[in-house]
Amino acid sequence: MNPLNHVAIIMDGNGRWGLKNKSSRNQGHKAGLNTVEKIIKETINQKIKYLTLYAFSTENWKRPKKEINYLFNLLENFLLNRIEDLNKQNIKLNVIGAKNFSKKLNKLLNLSEKKTLKNTTLQINLALNYGSKFEIINALKKMNKNNDKINEMNLSKYLQTKNTPDPEILIRTGNTKRLSNFLLWQLAYAEIFFEKKLWPDFEEKDYIKIIKKFKRIKRNFGNI
Ligand code: IPE
Ligand code: IPE
Ligand code: MG
Repeated sequence: MNPLNHVAIIMDGNGRWGLKNKSSRNQGHKAGLNTVEKIIKETINQKIKYLTLYAFSTENWKRPKKEINYLFNLLENFLLNRIEDLNKQNIKLNVIGAKNFSKKLNKLLNLSEKKTLKNTTLQINLALNYGSKFEIINALKKMNKNNDKINEMNLSKYLQTKNTPDPEILIRTGNTKRLSNFLLWQLAYAEIFFEKKLWPDFEEKDYIKIIKKFKRIKRNFGNI
């Protein structure tokens, strides 16, 4: 059975779910939050140590202002209402991506990270204003500045996922088969699961099915 330390998820399909069920994309984002809660719980049940969630990409700024504002409001309220409980559950919150939001949200994100810094049951990497190409370029720039030797180990240390093992599993919901600038370096050997269901419809049982399937895959890493 394959060991499993880290699951990464592209939580896609909120907009389509919202339009179909509530005639509003934003209502889909709201519904997607329930799935986030369910999947966090199940990740802890499964004793998985790292969960990376793609919540907002560097490309998502192209969306209408109204949708962007709604998304960040949702995040703000989620943190305000849920961080105490996440902390009680010994969950560590780590934001990856460029934290250049409103002063209020930046402060809230920093506080949430600080509050949960020492927690050990599960680390959630929340990818916010995250783009993998930006992350890699930034890492290379820093390496160059520090005159560090360019090799795989050093580059991994300069990425925002430093101290996190590479994901063994990538899940993308929403019936779309692409990576959308997510963890391009870190997913080099991940097992990829494209799921037809839209994110708000994704359930624990779908997640468990993927984990079970993963555990039985013959992972070669170039070997035979
Ligand atoms: C993913 O769902 C969530 C975010 C990008 C914030 P989408 O909003 O991309 O949903 P679809 O793909 O349009 O249905
Ligand atoms: C990727 O989904 C980003 C997140 C889930 C946060 P998108 O829906 O933005 O991806 P594209 O634009 O369809 O590739
Ligand atoms: Mg989408």
